[in-house]
Amino acid sequence: MDINTLKKNILNIIASNTGVETTLQSICNYLKNEIEYYDWVGFYFKNGAKDELKLAQFSGEPTEHTLIPFGKGICGQVAVSNKNFVVQDVSEQDNYISCGWKVKSEIVIPIFVNGKNIGQIDIDSHIVSPFTKDDEILLEFVCEEVAKLNIAHLYQ
Ligand code: SME
Repeated sequence: MDINTLKKNILNIIASNTGVETTLQSICNYLKNEIEYYDWVGFYFKNGAKDELKLAQFSGEPTEHTLIPFGKGICGQVAVSNKNFVVQDVSEQDNYISCGWKVKSEIVIPIFVNGKNIGQIDIDSHIVSPFTKDDEILLEFVCEEVAKLNIAHLYQ
């Protein structure tokens, strides 16, 4: 499916406005089902005043990494760098938290509200080097749209 259709369908999910938790869950389910190399899709948000991330909605196998300190793993690094992190091969990363041997690559895109990095979308893939610039463009779009929702209770 082309990126514009994916974006349009994300907007339709958001427009159906069934409550923010349901919307985030639907986005996870949609991306995981629609994009074959997305094997786990989840949202992490800052855990209130703590310098750690807390897992919110996700689609895929449950993970024990529901709390991640800032700086730790790919997710924790994005919490402090404020930058996209595209890892085409996780075996090349020292600061990486494994969610199982099947995961070969990962992409994490931060979510900004009023210029503050308040969370992120995290994708795991079971194949090496699946991600292109289009993944970053699509996921940045998702993060920008999610940032417009009433999500303050998820990170404050
Ligand atoms: N691999 C991540 C941990 C979270 S799981 O992918 C769901 C990391 O290194 O931060």
